[in-house]
Amino acid sequence: MVVDVLVYLVLALVVAIVAVLVGVAIVMRRRSRAPGPGAPSAAPQATERAAPAASARPAEPPAAKTATEPAAIQGPEEMAHPVPLGFTAYSKKVALIGDGGVGKTSLINRFVKGQFDDKYIHTIGTNVKKKSVLLHDEKAAATLMVWDMQGQRNDPSILTHMFHSEGAIIVCDVTRDETFNNMPEWIALLEKELGRRVPMVFLGNKADLEEQAVIGQTQLQYMASRYGASWHLTSAKTGQNVEESFTELARRMVAGK
Ligand code: GTP
Repeated sequence: MVVDVLVYLVLALVVAIVAVLVGVAIVMRRRSRAPGPGAPSAAPQATERAAPAASARPAEPPAAKTATEPAAIQGPEEMAHPVPLGFTAYSKKVALIGDGGVGKTSLINRFVKGQFDDKYIHTIGTNVKKKSVLLHDEKAAATLMVWDMQGQRNDPSILTHMFHSEGAIIVCDVTRDETFNNMPEWIALLEKELGRRVPMVFLGNKADLEEQAVIGQTQLQYMASRYGASWHLTSAKTGQNVEESFTELARRMVAGK
């Protein structure tokens, strides 16, 4: 009889201990899930905080045609500043065009990443990269969506990629005059697709290769003036005039000229 009572007591004790342990475990688990007093809550994005009211922004450009676009579109790679208070935010699609090997990809890499690579990797399809520039005089923050297109004009996908561009950078290689002579062909394609003229900047790239240069300031200036555009001699290798060129285009697009 005494033994039975003892066994019951031991069993009751074991059950009680197990119940307490389970209770402690549940409480610990709940505590570890709940955010502590210093835990960060989901902070709003800097751009959301600082961006002006939606009514102050121009309408977002419609998305590029998707139905007919081939799969070879990569990006966008981001590099965005928060929009300072009192600035108006713009988002603009830019066509980066010109013959193969003139340095389009190198220019956008220099602009977005500050990098240069000597290797030539032929662009297949289109790469999209994104960077914001601040225009202090205009109190504007322009996010440029730059469509770096492969340098073959006879590829029909080029036209669809140009669709809805609001500005263009047309590049030639100052060491190859045919790339300069082909610039009007690129503009003709662009304008055929858009049905209008957009703000443009002409670049004579590889300006660091001074000894091999066959295109200079006189030719570029003449070409740009035919289209009411700006021009720069640039080097993706040294960074010469790269930031300036994209900023200049952003300024022209914001001003609409
Ligand atoms: P596609 O993709 O074929 O249309 O060519 P791309 O216009 O994008 O040319 P890319 O940027 O690939 O450059 C072609 C070659 O020129 C690469 O070997 C680059 O390193 C070189 N290159 C580009 N920009 C410069 C420059 O400013 N100076 C010098 N010296 N070389 C450059």
